[in-house]
Amino acid sequence: MAYSEILVNNEGGIVTLTINRPKALNALNKGVFDDIEEFFTKGHKAHQDLKGVIIIGAGEKAFVAGADIKEFLQLDAEQAIHLSRRGQDIFFLIEGFHKPVIALVDGFALGGGCELAMACHMRVATEGARFGQPEVNLGLIPGYGGTQRLPQLVGKAKAIEMILTGDMIDADEAYRIGLVNYVCSGAEGLEKSKSLISKIAKKGPTSIAMGISTINAYYDKEINGYVSEHKTFGTMMVSDETKEGVSAFLEKRKANF
Ligand code: CAA
Repeated sequence: MAYSEILVNNEGGIVTLTINRPKALNALNKGVFDDIEEFFTKGHKAHQDLKGVIIIGAGEKAFVAGADIKEFLQLDAEQAIHLSRRGQDIFFLIEGFHKPVIALVDGFALGGGCELAMACHMRVATEGARFGQPEVNLGLIPGYGGTQRLPQLVGKAKAIEMILTGDMIDADEAYRIGLVNYVCSGAEGLEKSKSLISKIAKKGPTSIAMGISTINAYYDKEINGYVSEHKTFGTMMVSDETKEGVSAFLEKRKANF
């Protein structure tokens, strides 16, 4: 699969997806979006052994410093709506992906970069990570789901403060308010992300995929999450995967999923 703006590396089923525009602090341009869409719709199928995905930014300075501001001035209102919806749709692909996706944030995660991290299932930050929604400094609001996911993750009070001030927060503050799952020093971030994916890979693959989609149902205003939960629970109860998991428990052995 040929990508122009991302690098994809599979080590034992753990795929590292690197946004590779270090000179522009990995800003999300059209090419990055096209590549991310390609990976999460079709490209991942080339990795039969896929256990999960870790998204990182190339270079020393940034995870992703936002949408590519250089593409903004040429846009009329219709095109800007289209861009925002495209970003939202691509991030829905990540949020709904059937395997765990972890954002490993080292350096700046600003604007669309913070929004990309929030669309992932978990976030691991290194000590030097900085998070923010600085769109107000451009006379804008977040456009790739940030107004919706930030309050989901950190609550309305902190989300309002971050989006209205545009201030950045450091990794410890991001952990304190629930924006990230772990803060690690340097290279430990990659090890932590890999160990989370390896642990999840030992569980039943359908239960992982259904856990993701049923949790997402809570945030979907078109769906009753409780209905989604009991229907999924029922379907899974009679599946081979659940039969194996329950039998293994009763027979005091490890499940073979
Ligand atoms: N888009 C395009 N280019 C960007 C960029 C972005 N979001 N962020 C950084 N760059 C480019 C800079 O223009 C610069 O390029 P040149 O060398 O060609 O001038 C290069 O990356 C390095 O950046 P700086 O020289 O600015 O680096 P710095 O260390 O002095 O500052 C920074 C780092 C604080 C992250 C600063 O680059 C910055 O504030 N970037 C913009 C952050 C931002 O506003 N993000 C939100 C974008 S809007 C958005 O994302 C909307 C949405 O929700 C969809």
